[in-house]
Amino acid sequence: MTEQKPIKSNKLYWGIFIVAIVGFFLLGLLASSITQRKAEKEFVYKPVVQLSDNEPRNEVWGENFPKEFETYKKTLDTNLRTKFNGNVLRDALEEDPRMVVLWAGYAFSRDYNQPRGHAYAIKDMRRTLRTAAPMNGEGELQPTTCWTCKSPDVPRLMAEKGVENFYKGKWSSIGHEIVNPIGCGDCHDPKTMNLKITRPVLIEAFERQGKDITQSTHQEMRSLVCAQCHVEYYFDKKKIEGAAYLTLPWDKGMTVEKMEEYYDEHEFSDYTHKLSRAPILKAQHPGYEVHMLGIHGQRGVACADCHMPYISEGGQKFTSHQQVSPLEYIDKTCQVCHRESEETLRNNVYDRQDKIFENKIKLEDILVRLHTEAKKAWDLGATEAEMKEILQGIRKAQWRWDFAVASHGAAFHAPIEVLRIMANAIEIGNEARVKLARVLAKYGFNQEVPYPDISTKAKAQAFIGLDMPKLNADKLKFLDTVVPQWIQQAKARESKWKIVRY
Ligand code: HEC
Ligand code: HEC
Ligand code: HEC
Ligand code: HEC
Repeated sequence: MTEQKPIKSNKLYWGIFIVAIVGFFLLGLLASSITQRKAEKEFVYKPVVQLSDNEPRNEVWGENFPKEFETYKKTLDTNLRTKFNGNVLRDALEEDPRMVVLWAGYAFSRDYNQPRGHAYAIKDMRRTLRTAAPMNGEGELQPTTCWTCKSPDVPRLMAEKGVENFYKGKWSSIGHEIVNPIGCGDCHDPKTMNLKITRPVLIEAFERQGKDITQSTHQEMRSLVCAQCHVEYYFDKKKIEGAAYLTLPWDKGMTVEKMEEYYDEHEFSDYTHKLSRAPILKAQHPGYEVHMLGIHGQRGVACADCHMPYISEGGQKFTSHQQVSPLEYIDKTCQVCHRESEETLRNNVYDRQDKIFENKIKLEDILVRLHTEAKKAWDLGATEAEMKEILQGIRKAQWRWDFAVASHGAAFHAPIEVLRIMANAIEIGNEARVKLARVLAKYGFNQEVPYPDISTKAKAQAFIGLDMPKLNADKLKFLDTVVPQWIQQAKARESKWKIVRY
């Protein structure tokens, strides 16, 4: 049975069809005018002030870009505590006093907090006991180089003094120069607002590998601006007389083994451990390097995709400048690419972190034992020759531990790589312990070297012989007397810089 459609009804269909086409056309016009207007809104940019080449003041840039500046100011928030991170002040040594023992002989054993927002960079650097309390030409612990990743005053000062001269001198000698926390001038060209690499250290590391950083793609730049600071680095004191030249150890490659090879060849170590006397490498925060080894890095996802998401406000789309844990706004970060619920995605993060945390603690216990057992061996009269290989083992195991945990996001950024590194460290550490047991036995010691009581930060610091009351008192005095002078000098300087308004 075939159905014949009446001719009359065909006409009706045509009519509906034509009306629909016209309707769609009009709708299309409307839609395109909306997107056009949105696009106009996005690109309308009326500068209020003229930005000079090395303007370090975020508030001045903020006059031109209020939305970005408002979100930047949120890096002052301290309202988020995730399972392991967040923007609250977390005392890493209090949470895990083993670290105090691992860093015995190095300033990190005095004081080490997890990172907070960028706007705190200057305050936190002045406050940390790692910069000590330099006063009246005494008590200096660090070089000027330490300021390099803290402020847009750095590119300004480098332009004024020259890069080599910037790296010369003591930390406190430029305290009055560096006052504006990490901000606009660190990542942007003031004329074009394009992303810009302002730190020579990264440009030079690329050059030594035969790469030109200016050829990077836009998406690569969305990570490379972060790689100016969130990387492993060291101070090369051999390059230029009197300078602590900031250098990335990337010449052989960016893995934990390749950087170790580089350091070994340069016979570099950050400090000699106070208990074991091992020549220790302190990993800084190889955030970029580790990220590149994870699946997101491999798929070309950039730091900014997760830490600087797009935000829409009143039809305006812009980039959030609150660099923070992406768990602050999963809907704007992870869920741009993943369909799973917020809860699932958060648990994906916690799950990886929990598993890595398990190994971290095991590895740290091994390292604490290594340092205390090595000290016992020295005390019993072990010789340099007997200890040499053992100390190398301690150096290798601790470098791997530090590399894996030092950049806080690593457990999520590249969980498989981090677990691989930790597994190797546990093996190297245990091998060194077997050798140590033989040395101890040779000197007639066949018992267990007792694990120290380091259940709190205070106990651990007492165990390694730090005089904390004195360090704290000196710091308070420094903060009360020296820092206010720095701030006043800076105000006087900046008040002379004219702001040209359009
Ligand atoms: C740590 C690096 C960094 C700092 C510091 C920084 N920005 Fe950005 N900014 C970015 C990135 C990344 C983007 C996204 C660029 C892109 O994808 O094109 C961006 C984009 C912008 C844009 C383009 C419009 C938009 O919102 O996407 C403006 C304007 C801007 N930033 C202004 C500022 C201002 C003002 C400051 C200081 C308060 C600042 N930025 C500080 C990295 C930074
Ligand atoms: C000029 C150096 C510098 C640059 C460039 C930089 N950072 Fe940072 N970043 C820091 C320092 C220093 C801290 C720690 C500040 C503190 O604790 O006082 C930090 C902290 C952070 C934190 C921790 C915030 C929190 O709430 O705990 C995140 C996340 C972060 N940065 C991401 C980024 C991303 C993403 C980029 C690139 C878009 C970037 N950073 C570029 C130096 C830098
Ligand atoms: C810009 C896109 C993008 C963003 C943003 C993003 N991801 Fe992914 N994610 C990917 C891609 C691409 C892969 C690789 C999967 C593939 O290629 O099949 C991936 C893989 C994963 C995996 C599986 C990999 C593994 O470790 O086994 C997890 C879990 C994951 N993402 C969680 C997250 C979470 C949590 C966030 C937010 C903090 C996030 N992603 C943000 C694109 C993104
Ligand atoms: C796919 C998403 C993703 C990408 C890409 C990514 N991160 Fe992360 N990052 C995370 C997550 C998730 C955490 C863990 C947050 C937590 O535990 O609260 C984290 C943590 C961090 C932290 C510690 C934050 C804190 O609260 O203390 C820093 C710093 C950081 N990332 C920097 C970077 C840098 C630099 C890059 C690029 C080289 C990068 N991240 C790329 C998702 C990402």
